[in-house]
Amino acid sequence: MTSDKKIIVAIDGYSSSGKSTMARELARRVGYVYVDSGAMYRAVTLYAMRHDLASPQSGVNVEGLVRVLPDIHISFAPAGADGVQHTLLNGEDVESEIRDMQVSNLVSPVSVIPEVRHRLTLLQQGFGEEKGIVMDGRDIGTTVFPDAELKIFVCASAEERARRRMRELQAKGEEVSFEEVLHNVVERDRIDSTREVSPLRKADDAIELDNGTMTPAQQMEWLLNEFNKATANG
Ligand code: DC
Repeated sequence: MTSDKKIIVAIDGYSSSGKSTMARELARRVGYVYVDSGAMYRAVTLYAMRHDLASPQSGVNVEGLVRVLPDIHISFAPAGADGVQHTLLNGEDVESEIRDMQVSNLVSPVSVIPEVRHRLTLLQQGFGEEKGIVMDGRDIGTTVFPDAELKIFVCASAEERARRRMRELQAKGEEVSFEEVLHNVVERDRIDSTREVSPLRKADDAIELDNGTMTPAQQMEWLLNEFNKATANG
């Protein structure tokens, strides 16, 4: 039984910690809107790559990207038959492309730019105006929704997270080595946790979940229990 009281659920954590899967499934079970904030940073990164404003060779052209930010419109198409919500960049479905290794390698340097964060934070706060939302990311419990009624911080070892990411990429037919994926995971953790604006960190009032040895079913049981507790006194 879930109560009628609508809350905001913020799920933060390290890259490939499985937080998106958990967040999406929770939203589905309790009839909430799900927003993948990382997808928004990935879409901005893809836009920058397509407009020669970000590349592995020359990094990110910060000034250029800040100038074109007003031209970048991000939205989500409701989940289709695959059960996955699709990210739209200026109306184009880029859900698959934003998960590529190239985007993964450039998304953290794009995410340190204060103007990018400011713009996406405002957009994310707009999604949460009516509550009844589950959002996952790095700074949801600390910056986007500091008053969220339920905050979860997910962690697992870098090796375990790299193994999960590797499986996802292989399922898509992308050829990558374990070392490359592990390096990306560790490097993103480093940049995300040390950036000046809204670094990745556990909010003081977040509940920590180390899901390294838990099955998806066990994680969902744990999360639903926390959700029911958070909505109980409504
Ligand atoms: O959740 P993800 O791995 O798809 O996120 C991709 C990147 O986006 C992540 O490495 C850092 C950035 N990000 C962020 O800075 N703040 C968020 N709230 C979500 C993601």
